[in-house]
Amino acid sequence: MNRLLCAALAALWLSAPAMAQDLALLERGRYLVEVTGACGNCHTPMGPQGPLPGRHLAGGTVFDEPPFRAVASNITPDPETGIGRWTDAQIARAIREGIRPDGTLIGPPMPFAFYRGLSDRDIAAMVAYLRTVPALRNVAERSVYRIQLPPAYGPPVASVAPPADNPVARGAYLAGAVAHCMECHTPMQGGHADMTRLGAGGMEFRGPWGVSVARNITPHANGLGGWTDTEIVRAVTEGISRDGRQLAPPMAFWAYRNMTQQDLADLVAYLRSIPSLP
Ligand code: HEC
Ligand code: HEC
Repeated sequence: MNRLLCAALAALWLSAPAMAQDLALLERGRYLVEVTGACGNCHTPMGPQGPLPGRHLAGGTVFDEPPFRAVASNITPDPETGIGRWTDAQIARAIREGIRPDGTLIGPPMPFAFYRGLSDRDIAAMVAYLRTVPALRNVAERSVYRIQLPPAYGPPVASVAPPADNPVARGAYLAGAVAHCMECHTPMQGGHADMTRLGAGGMEFRGPWGVSVARNITPHANGLGGWTDTEIVRAVTEGISRDGRQLAPPMAFWAYRNMTQQDLADLVAYLRSIPSLP
């Protein structure tokens, strides 16, 4: 065999494990962005049937609230109008710390308080995957904040370890850092999530569906107390309440329906473990 071919074959053989690793990272990133994280719930413009086809992650969704008129950014790899020119570290910092490469702060409702907790491997996976989605040209309008944004959302995030390997810890990570269930299901008090009322519901969401109110998802009788595990999983993945009523947006059922059995079991274990609140 000629020397060049030998070298090429050796290189191929040596890089096979690395390639398998890259694929596992990409697949994890896809799952985080598309399923549990449901970034498209905000970053893909919505039509009456859900996310608009051909506009995946291209931004433009408007959140018109008293404190702000926020417009979701284009997070596709388009170099001009998306994040194509950002380095991996810059994208990671934008997601976990809410700071753009030019140093400006990204505003709400992008859920930074939760994304700060994303583990190093998961943030790397998200960044790797975001680089592979189709680049779409779309200039998202600028957001207008009528409230004073803080100078930062906290100290720089150096390193975050994955959650402890037990169902409640994994479920807490999923409901917090990744799917930010608790962002919607915890009421606000003075502009911040009232953590003494974690999961108690009450926040209102206005949209083409009218007004929906986040439910109590604590183990209280007013919440998921009397529900079976199967009923909880059905609500999360199909958007059907215990009594059979179809739940309204903005909960991302359309994405959560592809969650793994393991993640759903962990979520249920966590929801059953939080303090019971009326
Ligand atoms: C609840 C809605 C919401 C969710 C969920 C959300 N985002 Fe955002 N995101 C926004 C809004 C709104 C902005 C723009 C804020 C501004 O203009 O300051 C933004 C900005 C960004 C930016 C900055 C882009 C730029 O050009 O400045 C990145 C990167 C980003 N989001 C990534 C993500 C990823 C990745 C996910 C999923 C893990 C995600 N976002 C989930 C609402 C959301
Ligand atoms: C963007 C906001 C948002 C996010 C994120 C969200 N939810 Fe919800 N959720 C809602 C709203 C609003 C309702 C009530 C809808 C209605 O009444 O039509 C709801 C309903 C529910 C219900 C049904 C309760 C009942 O009484 O019918 C469950 C269970 C639930 N959410 C759990 C979760 C879990 C677990 C997650 C994370 C995987 C999550 N939610 C993420 C907004 C959200």
